[in-house]
Amino acid sequence: MIVKQFRTHFKNELSEVYPTTEIDSFFFLLIDEYLGLQRIDTVLKPDFKIDEAKLSILNKALQRLKNQEPLQYIIGKTEFYGYPFFVDKNTLIPRPETEELVEWILNEIENLDLSENKKLNILDIGTGSGCIPISLAKNLKNTTISSIDVSADALKMAKKNAELNKVNINFIENDILATNNLPESYDIIVSNPPYVRELEKVEIQNNVLENEPHLALFVSDDDPLIFYNKIAELAKKHLSKSGILFFEINQYLGKETLEMLIKKGFKNVELRKDLFKNDRMIKANI
Ligand SMILES: C[S@@+](CC[C@H](N)C(=O)[O-])C[C@H]1O[C@@H](n2cnc3c(N)ncnc32)[C@H](O)[C@@H]1O
Repeated sequence: MIVKQFRTHFKNELSEVYPTTEIDSFFFLLIDEYLGLQRIDTVLKPDFKIDEAKLSILNKALQRLKNQEPLQYIIGKTEFYGYPFFVDKNTLIPRPETEELVEWILNEIENLDLSENKKLNILDIGTGSGCIPISLAKNLKNTTISSIDVSADALKMAKKNAELNKVNINFIENDILATNNLPESYDIIVSNPPYVRELEKVEIQNNVLENEPHLALFVSDDDPLIFYNKIAELAKKHLSKSGILFFEINQYLGKETLEMLIKKGFKNVELRKDLFKNDRMIKANI
């Protein structure tokens, strides 16, 4: 089959599932990934012949897309903060909102009044693909970064991503809800923990619900701030004197999360919106 024919077949197969612009974007990403062809090549080489082996890979990808599997899981990778990351079903696909949290942390660190040889100690809780600690490590020189996750499979992927991006992260397998003490004292603690309530499942797209790890997403309706309460308690004990706590949060629980932190005695608690104008992240000083 030639690439022009495959494009028509691809469009026909997916037209009832996705809008045309999205189908085009899937098509170009897949031919780049599996055939090494750029968008312009579909004009310059419309008769490019796809060999049987490659056609079979492309058709499998097409079937998975038809079943609404995220493209990132099909090709096994994505990009976050400009860096490549492997992802699979054990790791949440990093979101653009989280890139904004990383940006905020880096800006705050830039504004810290650090002595020449002060080495920052950072802890990330709920690492998933490792997107937060790895992006921080790529942009910070004098730092030690540790990262906790309860999922051994997610940590395996995060380690692979640290190697891919050539950074050193100390990964720790641990259930944060069952932890009463952290291993060290930290200058920054950051977490994007599970925060979607069961009652919000109706708002979640099918491709997320059916493919992304529920362990990474959901909390009970009765205690939606369970991770925030626990991490804030640990942060009170384990943040250094001028330490900062950063959270990505549930957009519907901005006020509640902010009040919880103030009640626990955190200072300068600041709530920020994401690019979609939803309450999405919080910074608090010890
Ligand atoms: C919302 S995901 C965030 C992943 C990644 N940091 C990101 O921003 O894309 C939450 C992560 O917390 C982890 N997690 C869930 N329960 C946990 C627990 N009890 N202790 C530690 N990590 C947990 C999940 O495995 C998942 O990787």
